Amino acid sequence: MRLLVTGGAGYVGSVVAAQLLEAGHEVVVLDDESTGHADGVPAGADYVRGTIRDDAANVLAEGIDAVLHFAAKSLVGESVAKPGLYWSHNLGGTLALLEAMRRTGVGSIVFSSTAAVYGEPERVPVEETDPARPTSPYGASKLAVDETLHEYANLNGLAAVSLRYFNVAGAYRSAGDRWLSERHSPETHLIPNVLAIALAASGDPAVAASGKTELKIFGDDYPTPDGTCVRDYIHVADLARAHLLALGACTPGEHRVYNLGNGTGFSNREVLTVCREVTGLDIPARTAPRRDGDPAVLVASSAHIHQDLGWKAELDLRSMVADAWSAVCAAAG
Ligand code: UFG
Repeated sequence: MRLLVTGGAGYVGSVVAAQLLEAGHEVVVLDDESTGHADGVPAGADYVRGTIRDDAANVLAEGIDAVLHFAAKSLVGESVAKPGLYWSHNLGGTLALLEAMRRTGVGSIVFSSTAAVYGEPERVPVEETDPARPTSPYGASKLAVDETLHEYANLNGLAAVSLRYFNVAGAYRSAGDRWLSERHSPETHLIPNVLAIALAASGDPAVAASGKTELKIFGDDYPTPDGTCVRDYIHVADLARAHLLALGACTPGEHRVYNLGNGTGFSNREVLTVCREVTGLDIPARTAPRRDGDPAVLVASSAHIHQDLGWKAELDLRSMVADAWSAVCAAAG
């Protein structure tokens, strides 16, 4: 198949693009490089630098069988500060894409949704049918897209699958031995922050000078066994594999929604311990005040996608940290 991957220069999009190429598909990446990196686009993909709003229609018109849609703004804190930006990019951009798909007769889409649609869940593990009550414009904008896909499936016969990711981590070694990894700016996620501090602790003077020398653990008074937040981590390679299965399951007139996680929770302190073990470094850390909007516990039930598509996470937290650390070390030379 010839596939359009929007946001394919970003973290998850680039890994999915790499796996699609490895599976023998043709891939066109469309990315505006607002948060992605051109050097993240896997070798073998065609690359168009542009926006979904202005440029998707032209790419689709050249002949595309299906779309995998990652292009989005994805920082919870930024979304609270700039909600308009999130509604405009995430919902507005996707509406433009869906209309372009309708006009060009491209009928299938796999969408990068998020656990943030659930907000503060009433129970864990979270199932897809549990109430979606997002607590940030980021989560709300992604939920709005999920709902829009449902409408397009019902009214226009679109084939759509929304994949709701829990905490994605790890890195993927693509063809040519290149690591595709998380490179956000600013970086807000736990594991990349811990590993940046580990690199500083390993004595890299450039990193030590950047000021990230001690991990702040946001809150230790949550109702969890060690007081720190608990999250469900999923390896980006496992996550990407689910997209290929979802693509094969696209059915006209159907919108499916699947959670993607490991089904096991790790506290922030447990993550730090695994990072210390994998790197062999004594990574400095201290407790800091809670970060606004963090739910205490987020753990996915992925029973639904297991049942329907046979998908199951295979890689554990240790391999996520080990791969992310290999990518960090490779980038640092
Ligand atoms: N954390 C720290 N120190 C840091 C960074 C993070 O203690 O330097 C903590 C956070 O407070 C949280 C945990 O580590 O308790 C995980 O935080 P991340 O930022 O890595 O991930 P989130 O759980 O906040 O984010 C995930 C997804 C988002 C989604 C969100 C929904 O990455 O896309 O869950 O709550 F929106």
